[in-house]
Amino acid sequence: MLAIEWDDTAGRDGHGAVRVLDQTLLPVTTAYRVIDRVDDLVAAIAELAVRGAPALGVAGAMGVVLAMDEGLRKGWGESDVSAAVDRVRHARPTAVNLAWGVDQVRPLMPEGRDAVLAAARRVAREDEEANRQLSRLGADWLLDRLDRRRLRVLTHCNTGALATSAWGTALGVIRELHHRNRLELVYADETRPLLQGSRLTAFELAAEGIPHVVQADGAAASTVLRGLVDLAVVGADRIAANGDAANKIGTVGVALACRDAGIPFMVAAPWSTVDLSMPDGSGIEIEERPGEEVTELAGIRLAPEGTRGFNPAFDVTPARLVDAVATEYGVAEPRSGRDLAEIRALALGAAASM
Ligand code: MRU
Repeated sequence: MLAIEWDDTAGRDGHGAVRVLDQTLLPVTTAYRVIDRVDDLVAAIAELAVRGAPALGVAGAMGVVLAMDEGLRKGWGESDVSAAVDRVRHARPTAVNLAWGVDQVRPLMPEGRDAVLAAARRVAREDEEANRQLSRLGADWLLDRLDRRRLRVLTHCNTGALATSAWGTALGVIRELHHRNRLELVYADETRPLLQGSRLTAFELAAEGIPHVVQADGAAASTVLRGLVDLAVVGADRIAANGDAANKIGTVGVALACRDAGIPFMVAAPWSTVDLSMPDGSGIEIEERPGEEVTELAGIRLAPEGTRGFNPAFDVTPARLVDAVATEYGVAEPRSGRDLAEIRALALGAAASM
């Protein structure tokens, strides 16, 4: 089940379109949005029909193809196409992958839409490869340090195949542990207010027969302090050069609890989530979503009329709380000073000497 893919003929009149698995409806309904207009893609991103940082990277890259195709059909000028690409690029602010995906393919526009489409497909393919590699490295890192046959793992939000082109990041590490027969149980935070944990993570874990429970976000710190888990692993939407990591709101509380309990807090993300232009997390824009997502549940008002919701969608976990950042190039250890730039330099050095 792919979160997002390009379909050469699914659009109106048989032209190309982006097929998005509508995650607002999961797990109750499996339905796809066939999108052949830029503004529909922007809406799908804003509504979280497609979501998760790496999947947004793919959406960004494919959005450029959509803009070129729609421009051709509607006779747009160059500046209209460029404005449409910018609308995709800015559809959500926190996950750097969205802008990164656009920027990966945009320079190829003068070579034509087929070149852009090929590059967009490459973004998706390489994301899966990166996820599988970072999952192996992340699992190795954990198993080297934790002296327990089968690990009990806490995770927050959804970071699986639904949030990426395939496989997953933090959920990829969990899958990897499961495949190595080294996983006991996953505690999946439900992830208020939009319930990515209970709706999506539990859906993926159940589909693969991975033992799990869903817990209220408010239970997470206590689960850690009671010694019920051996580690926490989460994804990220943007990681600054020093290892500060933006992720779904509620993540920083998990990290604080792990630090207090002395258990590893790992961030798992492909390099496309790393933003070395940001020295630290203070410059990361935190998306603020409609208050009704907090004051209502599935359209039913829970808080009193007149009470406003406060709804930051992400938080930033300071590097001092991050034991490990598992990337496809290696595992950085921000808390002990092995930073992301060092990981990248080592990887580039290895590639150069091959
Ligand atoms: O608002 P969402 O659902 O897009 O938030 C997703 C997350 O915070 C994920 O943890 C993050 O994007 C990593 S996905 C591999």
